[in-house]
Amino acid sequence: MKISMGVVGFAVPILAGLVLALIGHPAVQLPPPPVVAASTSPAAGFVLKSVSVELPVSDVAFPGGAKADAVAANCLSCHSAGMVLTQPDLTRAVWTDIVEKMIHAYKAPVAEADVAAIVDYLQATRGAK
Ligand code: HEC
Repeated sequence: MKISMGVVGFAVPILAGLVLALIGHPAVQLPPPPVVAASTSPAAGFVLKSVSVELPVSDVAFPGGAKADAVAANCLSCHSAGMVLTQPDLTRAVWTDIVEKMIHAYKAPVAEADVAAIVDYLQATRGAK
């Protein structure tokens, strides 16, 4: 029987592939298949639980009526009034720095025109005497 090079070139890679596929690769360890709980529910396999979270509430408002408008409008989106009012009495320079830090470090959207009114208010309310 005459075996042409074409047949050899075709058959050898296929045979080699078959042998390799049958032997498998001993180093490859397939992970075990995931265990899915048998159930008709689409949520099978995990359980949803309801939790209730009690967040602290603050009903402290900035005192001072209209004078507090600027601080209330610009600061309450991130803090409670209580958080600001329980700071120690600070000098005007320190309050100015804090408001600037809110604007530049924490990106508080404070209108530039409101900064003076905010600092005046903080100085009047929690200013170092
Ligand atoms: C965009 C959110 C945001 C806004 C608006 C904001 N702050 Fe803050 N503020 C922060 C963050 C964040 C901190 C840092 C909190 C921490 O350290 O736990 C902070 C901290 C503070 C502190 C604590 C002291 C300090 O230096 O860290 C004070 C006082 C304060 N803010 C006052 C103000 C005042 C007054 C305003 C209004 C002009 C204001 N904040 C608006 C985000 C904000």
